[in-house]
Amino acid sequence: MDSRIQYFLVLFMITFATILSPTVAKLSSNYYNKVCPQALQIVESIVKQAIIHEPRMGASLLRLHFHDCFVNGCDGSVLLDDTPNFVGEKSALPNINSLRGFEVVDQIKATLDISCKGHVVSCADILAIAARDSIAILGGYTYWYEVLLGRRDARNASRDAANINLPAPFLNLTQLITSFKSHGLNLRDLVVLSGAHTIGFAKCSSFRDRIYNDTNIDYNFASNLRNSCPRIGGDDNLAPLDATPKKVDTIYYKSLLYKKGLLHSDQELFKGDGSQSDALVKLYSKNSYAFAKDFGVSMIKMGNLKPLTGKKGEIRCNCRKVN
Ligand code: HEM
Repeated sequence: MDSRIQYFLVLFMITFATILSPTVAKLSSNYYNKVCPQALQIVESIVKQAIIHEPRMGASLLRLHFHDCFVNGCDGSVLLDDTPNFVGEKSALPNINSLRGFEVVDQIKATLDISCKGHVVSCADILAIAARDSIAILGGYTYWYEVLLGRRDARNASRDAANINLPAPFLNLTQLITSFKSHGLNLRDLVVLSGAHTIGFAKCSSFRDRIYNDTNIDYNFASNLRNSCPRIGGDDNLAPLDATPKKVDTIYYKSLLYKKGLLHSDQELFKGDGSQSDALVKLYSKNSYAFAKDFGVSMIKMGNLKPLTGKKGEIRCNCRKVN
C-alpha cells in the first residue's frame, strides 16, 4: 500500500477511536478561577474558624469527603437529607449518629453562593476543598496539596450502597485491601489514607470488640480504654484515634508499632509479620515528609473517584437536597 494512504488510514483510525472513546472526566485545580476566584479563600477561612471553634471539626470534614467518595464517587451524595420519600446515605450504619460537619458545609455553601453571585461551586467540591484545608490547617504547610475541582452534585443517593461500600472497623487486612481495590486504590493508598486517623475520635461502639477481644493490643492501652468504654453501655463515649487527635502528625503510625491502634482495622495495618503493609507503616512512622507527600497523592486519587462532570448531575442550591 502507498505509504501516504497508510499514513492517512492510521490518522483516520486514531481520530475515529478518540471520538468513540468515552470522554474521560478531568478535574482541574483552576476550575473556579474565572467564575469565582475567591472561592478557595472563602472555604479556607470558614474551615479555619470552625476548627478554632472546635478542633475536631477538621477530622469530621475530612471524613465526610472520604464517605462521599467511597459511595458512588465524589458527588456530594453523602450530604442529602432523608425525607419521607427518600432514603439517603446519612442513615447508613457507618454514618448514622457518627458523621459530623454538615452545618459547616451549609455555612460554606451559603457564603459561596452570595459571594459568587449564584450556585457556582458544587457541594462535592466543597467537601474536597474542606478536607484539604483541614489537613493543612492541622498539619502545617507540608500537608498542603493542590486540590482538583470541577465535580458536580448527584441527584440521588443510596443507603444500601453506603452500607456496602464503606469499610467497617472490624475488617481484617485482606478485607481492607479488597475494599480499597474495589475503588481502584492499592495497598499504599490504604495505609497512607488510614493515616487520616491521625486526627479525630471514635465511639466506644467502634472499638469495644478490639479492647476486650483482640490480642494484638498493648495491655495498658486496652485496660485504660476499658474505663471509658464498658462492656455494656457507654456506646457514644469517645476516645482519640491517636495520642494527638488535634494534630496531623506521624503519631498514628508510631502507635501502631506499639500495638496502640484504636480500631481493629488500624492495627491490621501493622502486625509485625514483615508484610508490605508493615513496611509502609514503619516508613510513615519515621518519615513525616513521605507521609505528607503520599497522603496528598492518595487524596487526589480518592478525589478522582467517579466525579460527575460536564452535563451530568447539577450544582445544588442547598447541599441537603436536590434542586
Ligand atoms: C481503612 C478503612 C477505614 C475504616 C474501617 C474507618 C473507620 C472509622 C471509624 C469506625 C471511625 C469512628 C467513627 C465513630 O466511632 O463515630 C472513623 C473515624 C474517622 N475516620 Fe476513618 N476509617 C477508614 C478510613 C478512613 C479514611 C480513608 C479517611 C480519610 C481519608 C478516614 C477519616 C476518618 C477521620 C478523620 C475520623 C475521625 C472523625 C471525627 O472525629 O469526627 N478514615 N473511621
